[in-house]
Amino acid sequence: MAHYVPPEVYTNAFFEERLDTSDEWIRTRTGIRERRFAFNAGTSTLMKPAAEKAMERRGLGKDDIDIVICATVTPDHVFPSTACILQDALGLTNCWGFDISAACSGFLFALQTARSLVESGAANRILLCGGDRMSAIIDMKDRTTSVLFGDGAGAVIVEADENPGTVGIADSVLHIDGAGKRFLFQPAGGSVKPPSTDTVENREHYVKQDGKTVFKAAVVGMAEVTVDIMERNNLSADDVAWLVPHQANLRIIDATRERMGLDPKKVMINIDRLGNTTAGTIPICLSEWYEQGRLNKGDKLILSSFGAGYTWGSVYLQWELPKYES
Ligand code: UT7
Repeated sequence: MAHYVPPEVYTNAFFEERLDTSDEWIRTRTGIRERRFAFNAGTSTLMKPAAEKAMERRGLGKDDIDIVICATVTPDHVFPSTACILQDALGLTNCWGFDISAACSGFLFALQTARSLVESGAANRILLCGGDRMSAIIDMKDRTTSVLFGDGAGAVIVEADENPGTVGIADSVLHIDGAGKRFLFQPAGGSVKPPSTDTVENREHYVKQDGKTVFKAAVVGMAEVTVDIMERNNLSADDVAWLVPHQANLRIIDATRERMGLDPKKVMINIDRLGNTTAGTIPICLSEWYEQGRLNKGDKLILSSFGAGYTWGSVYLQWELPKYES
């Protein structure tokens, strides 16, 4: 696996200079200190270097990938899919692919999809990218949303392991509830409200969020699904090496950790440095910890998310890669 974040760092001071906000408000309410923006990139531009690095690490050539899956809510275009654009950019010669739209849960929904395709025998090897260029859809004049997000992407190769006793992706619990749609969404640009002068003037092509309502739903949803997957698999907090949570708000992550009874040292956090990269948060966290040599073979990981839709879920996996060596 691998990840890519753009080099340009935007600290909270960037917003202090433009909006009625403060570093103190952003830090204490969300945990974010800085994020990366790539104002001139498409999401495929962020996914490409992550994908290249992941393939290189695994020693894969251009004809070794059977399926490309991109989890994103900021596709390069409404169509064709970002998977098509990425396939072309990478020069992959023998694959099919598609995008998955599940917002902050996109990586987990795509991981379960990839797992099912490999387990069914439909594919040997899947390139799965999760990432978003949130700077394309956040309103830089809206202090309630602009400070929350960042740009970035992660990439993983999902394949079968022939070794007996391998566990890998062990279980997943995923949910959707469209009753949440009006609390976090992009009102215009789809078929319900195609672009018009009015939609542009009304700034309807940007993320709109009722933060408090989503916060309450996220605290309950992410904690419950995480405890659910632990109980289904007879896992105690001691058994879990790492919680890999979606990075929307440090307070939501803390609530989930507390419900698990987990030591704070066992939680992957990068929201302070990267903000909420939507479908990118979980694979970027995993890749960073992997590169830092903090993941050991046999570690039990719980990946958890909550986001627009609503979409939410947990994946339980056992880390099967040897310790990373640069
Ligand atoms: O990843 C997708 C899923 N999304 C989430 O999980 C996000 C869930 N929601 C949240 O993380 C939090 O609700 C926010 C961080 C978005 C907001 O935090 P909050 O503690 O819920 O604040 P709030 O929305 O209740 O706003 C409190 C006050 C309001 O002012 P009044 O009405 O009390 O005077 C806001 O207008 O803070 C104000 N405010 C700000 N002030 C300074 C909102 N944004 C800002 C800002 N700077 N950037």
